[in-house]
Amino acid sequence: MENNNNSTDEERIINAQETNGDKVLDLSLRPKKLDEYIGQNKIKENLSIFIQAAQKRGEPIEHVLLYGSPGLGKTTLAHVISNELGSNIRVTSGPAIEKSGDLAAILTNLSEGDILFIDEIHRLNKNIEEILYPAMEDYALDIIIGKGPSARTLRLDLPRFTIIGATTKISSLSAPLRDRFGATYHLNFYEHNDIEKIINRSAKILSVGIEDEPVKEIAARSRFTPRVANRLLKRVRDYSEVKGDGRINNNLCQAAFDMLEIDELGLDWIDRKILETIIDKFGGGPVGLNTIAAATGEDMATVEDVYEPYLMRLAFLDRGPRGRIVTDIGHKHLGRKKKGQSKIL
Ligand code: ADE
Repeated sequence: MENNNNSTDEERIINAQETNGDKVLDLSLRPKKLDEYIGQNKIKENLSIFIQAAQKRGEPIEHVLLYGSPGLGKTTLAHVISNELGSNIRVTSGPAIEKSGDLAAILTNLSEGDILFIDEIHRLNKNIEEILYPAMEDYALDIIIGKGPSARTLRLDLPRFTIIGATTKISSLSAPLRDRFGATYHLNFYEHNDIEKIINRSAKILSVGIEDEPVKEIAARSRFTPRVANRLLKRVRDYSEVKGDGRINNNLCQAAFDMLEIDELGLDWIDRKILETIIDKFGGGPVGLNTIAAATGEDMATVEDVYEPYLMRLAFLDRGPRGRIVTDIGHKHLGRKKKGQSKIL
């Protein structure tokens, strides 16, 4: 399929990264309590014990680290934890805390039992991370007064609070920071039937009528990610309101996906461009990430963090020591012959 629209990553429908539109959508669709939260059963079970045990002891919960791909519900889970505890949550992110004074202001404004949610915690700068160590370990804030030989450290006591950190890249987190979290949970991609349940729940909240077949079709294209499923549901709803009577049936759903150029596995034109570039220009690979990025006009980090995980999850792309390779089933999905093969598999 040729793509004529130069959509940016922000507009890319199956991009799992959060957009401004999602923020509004998430407010109504986001589950508030653990029992409304669909999927991630192991994490829910563990969290439930973790929360109840702390409550029994009358203590704030230990610091929690959530990691996993974008769109899997790290922020949602942080809000769920705060609702379960009945505590206040303050939300910030690694890149938003630029100066040590920013963090000091946040920490000194917290109350006993509050939760501080730090999204993209791997992007905190080193100096700020060091302020966080005593804050997490001893509930203390060390302030340096003055400069040079006369500089002194003043230690301020902080209320007992809990940090919930979220990251897509646990490997970028320094070991001392990682070690200060009492519990770490890895959010996995969702099961197909859990995504179907999420779509049905969201359709109900949005008061959209939807038949069973389109629920399955949307789930199949959701890249195992609730944020993508909810966004696709919204786009198909729009199409059904304009071209039909608002109820989502299979015909309208298929026509909407044709228009959006999203195939039956949820690949869009950028995914296909990446695979086709490796096949057409580099004989199917192996080829380096920087070469793929240059040849497709995408940013290297975006290719690695946004596009590749799903292509690898589908086993369409493989990462070897010499670079990326499009696999047999990757070729097959695009209807392409592998180099040296006489026919399509
Ligand atoms: N909406 C987005 N993620 C969800 C989840 N895990 N459970 C229920 N609704 C959701």
